[in-house]
Parts: sequence; structure tokens; C-alpha cells
Amino acid sequence: MIVLGVESSCDETAAAICSNNEILSTIVSSQVIHSKFGGVVPELASREHELLLNSIVEEALVEANIHKQDIEGIAVTRGPGLAGTLLSGVCFAKGLAQGLQKPIIGINHLEAHIFANFLADPELDFPFVCLLVSGGHTQLWLVIDMNHYTILGTTRDDAAGEAFDKGARILGLGYPGGPEIEKLGKNGNQRAVDFPRAFLNDKRLEFSFSGLKTALLYFMDSNKEKDNVNLEDIAASYQQAIIDVLVGKLVQAVEKVNVKTCVIAGGVAANKSLRETVNKALSNIRVLYPDLSLCTDNAAMVAYLGELYLSMGVSSSMDFDINPNLKLA
Ligand code: KG4
Ligand code: ZN
Repeated sequence: MIVLGVESSCDETAAAICSNNEILSTIVSSQVIHSKFGGVVPELASREHELLLNSIVEEALVEANIHKQDIEGIAVTRGPGLAGTLLSGVCFAKGLAQGLQKPIIGINHLEAHIFANFLADPELDFPFVCLLVSGGHTQLWLVIDMNHYTILGTTRDDAAGEAFDKGARILGLGYPGGPEIEKLGKNGNQRAVDFPRAFLNDKRLEFSFSGLKTALLYFMDSNKEKDNVNLEDIAASYQQAIIDVLVGKLVQAVEKVNVKTCVIAGGVAANKSLRETVNKALSNIRVLYPDLSLCTDNAAMVAYLGELYLSMGVSSSMDFDINPNLKLA
């Protein structure tokens, strides 16, 4: 089945074609307009999606070497995300589905992130633990089967990606903050500053990153007059504090449910130090990550999951709604 995927939950306008579980094309346009604001401006993002969606879909069709009429189904992210940007994508996709008289399915963005791991390895087997780490979510899931998910842990406040983004802003870096902090801290000393690691020595599977961000703010404030402040060391130490907690809790979760596989999903999964630390800490089980380009928002994961559902005969009615707070379970 040939499925077009459309993603517009935040600031990436993306389209992809998936056929027989293989990605024929994936096009992502990251909106640069937000970088000068240090975060996504929702109204600007919605307008950008509306401007770009048609040409991004055209590009995906050309790269996959197919025509619009070849599309057999459409998958589009319906939540969670920004209300306006979700509406841009869903309205566009509904119009196309109606015009082509093809089925449509509204996709949960979080589920699509998790399923990006099947693109890394089609042999991936249930059950597994997933550490889902994006700009808006930090969650630990026990993925028992398709549509059968149990939450093991979540954050009380900020998400891990948000901690990277807010930390980057404090350090005067651009948006998105994760790649910026990773780049700056690459050769820095991770132990230079002892930032807090909330709940690390606690049995509860919970995260909290708001105190870490405040600690960075105070640290920068009280050291700004000093000449010997090394930003590379600070970035490396800040990143390591986030990673230590993520990996510590992931190990606890894996031990608790006793699975043999774990996967990492979401934008923060692109972080190389996180990957290395997870590999070391969980060398006794199988660890999977999506390809770097499939960690951050993309439509390949949407098209892939959409094809799975549509080929099982599951589709949405034409009047389905967006849900900015859509949950996984
Ligand atoms: O999954 P995603 O693209 O969008 C959401 O669904 O939120 O995740 C975006 C988040 C941002 O907070 C960004 O700073 C973070 O992922 N991120 C990273 C890296 N690349 C993206 N964080 C750490 N290291 C990276 N290399
Ligand atoms: Zn995402």
C-alpha cells in the first residue's frame, strides 16, 4: 500500500511516502524563522506550514517517483502538538484525501516516534521499554504490543528536550537547544560543574528538570564576572546531568519490567552522548535508536505507522479532530 505521511505538530513541515513498510522518500523543512525568538512562535509556525505543505508533498512524490493518483491512503499527525500547526496539517491532508477519494488516518505523534524504531530494525519484537524524550515529553513506556502501552514514568515538570532548549537560551545559544549544547560541550569536561540530578537515587520512576535549569541560571549569574568561566565545560556538565538522570531511570525501568529490549525515541534520542551512555549502562540487553534523521520530527514515522493501521483496515472518519493534548494511553 502506498501511504503519504504528513507531519506538522510543531515547527517541522514534513511529508513522506511509505510503501510496504519501506520509506520511499522523506522531506523535512525545519522552520528557521523561530531561531531568533529562542523558541517556536505558534502563529508563525502555522502560517509557514500552510505556505510549505503543498510543495513539500510534491517534493516527496517526485523523490518517491510516484504521482498523486498513486497514493492509496493518507496519514497525518492529529496530536499532541500546537493546535494551529496541527490544524494546518490535518486540514491539508483531509482536503487531499477528499480530492483523491482515499482513506485517511489521524496519527498520534508519540506513537509514531516509538514506531520509528521499527524502521531502524523491522525485526524489533514486543515487549520493549521505550524512553520517549522530545521537546514536550519525557516518558518511560512499557510497549507490550501495538495499541497496548503502559506508562512506567514521566516528568513532573519540564521535558528533557525543554531542559536542553531552556539551558541553551540561558547560555546564549540558538534554538533548538539540544544540538547546540551537544556541539558546544563536545570537548568540555562533564564533571566541571556538579549540577543537580533530581530523583537519581530514588526508586520512583519520575523525572524533574526545572531545578536543573534554575541551577544553571544561578550558576551563570554568580559567575558572570569571572574570566575563567569555560562555556564548553558548562555545556558538557549540564548535558551530562540530563543524561545521567535519563539513563539512570531507563535502567531502573528495564530492571523493573525485566525486558530484553529497549528503544529510545524522540528528538533527544539524536544526542550521541546519550546513546553512548545508554549503550554502556545497558550492554546486557538490546538497545535500538532510530536513524538520526528519524529521531527529530519527520513524516516517515507517520507514514510508516499510518500504513500499518490502514492495511489493518483502521482509518479515521473525515470529521476527526486534532487533539493538542493527545495521550498515548
Ligand atoms: O521530537 P522532536 O523533534 O519534537 C517534539 O516532538 O518535541 O524533539 C525536539 C527536541 C528539542 O527540544 C531539541 O532541543 C531536542 O529534541 N534535540 C536534542 C538533539 N536534537 C534535538 N536534544 C539533545 N541533543 C540533540 N542532538
Ligand atoms: Zn516529536
